[in-house]
Amino acid sequence: MAVTGGASGIGAAIVSAFHAQGAKVVFFDIDEASGNALSANLGENVSFNALNLTDLDALTTQFAQAASIFGEFDVLVNNAAHDDRHDIAAVTPAYWRERLAVNLDHQFFAAQSVIPGMQSKGAGSIINMSSIAWRIGLPEAPAYVASKAAIEGLTHALARDLGADGIRVNCLLPGFVRTQRQIDKWLTPEFEQTVMSNQCLDRFIEPEDVAAMVVVLASDVSRAVTNQTWVVDAGWT
Ligand SMILES: NC(=O)c1ccc[n+]([C@@H]2O[C@H](COP(=O)([O-])OP(=O)(O)OC[C@H]3O[C@@H](n4cnc5c(N)ncnc54)[C@H](O)[C@@H]3O)[C@@H](O)[C@H]2O)c1
Repeated sequence: MAVTGGASGIGAAIVSAFHAQGAKVVFFDIDEASGNALSANLGENVSFNALNLTDLDALTTQFAQAASIFGEFDVLVNNAAHDDRHDIAAVTPAYWRERLAVNLDHQFFAAQSVIPGMQSKGAGSIINMSSIAWRIGLPEAPAYVASKAAIEGLTHALARDLGADGIRVNCLLPGFVRTQRQIDKWLTPEFEQTVMSNQCLDRFIEPEDVAAMVVVLASDVSRAVTNQTWVVDAGWT
């Protein structure tokens, strides 16, 4: 199986969860230090590939190389993203394009790379990470929010086109997940109050909670499930 953005945060929890299930895991990330550390820590059956996912030619080449070494992928988790905040007035056309490149474009091209292999097997599961950000209207991140909304649309388009090949495509919307980046950048006592007052559950969502849902969507337990959106937000929306 393949995971993008698997070196840290939710992606690292996904890599670890699949590894614990005995899966062969190939993950791609721009963060070489974290990717190498995770790969060394987990050991066998895990392969880290350093890749800037906004380089779509390199993405296609590296996915093909990985498939030729490890076998065609059964599962793709389109997880990588970058949720930097931006003020509307400051957004230039180049910045807008770069935000969509890091948050949206690679999800389509990673899917395009794995689809022929899944078609040849007559089965596959693609899980696209969106966010509740676009449902709640996260402030100061219009390009990120627009990308996350587009991912839900992309999921429906791919699910319809690929269902006849036995390939399932689902979308996952996490709420606030307590990753290291979120803790470092945004988790103030005030924001904790906002999270807890909006959620039904009085506890943080951990990366492992999202990874567990991804495992379900990847496995045959969900063999009749496609073209859907799954929300792991402790009841926020
Ligand atoms: N953490 C949350 O609260 C939260 C909430 C809703 C949705 N999500 C979604 O879940 C997914 C994972 O989020 P996270 O919080 O773990 O993010 P994160 O920022 O902690 O990790 C993202 C990973 O993607 C990698 N990455 C970023 N740009 C890349 C590039 N150009 N090429 C290759 N790799 C790149 C990073 O190095 C990192 O390892 C994202 O799609 C995010 O939008 C997260």
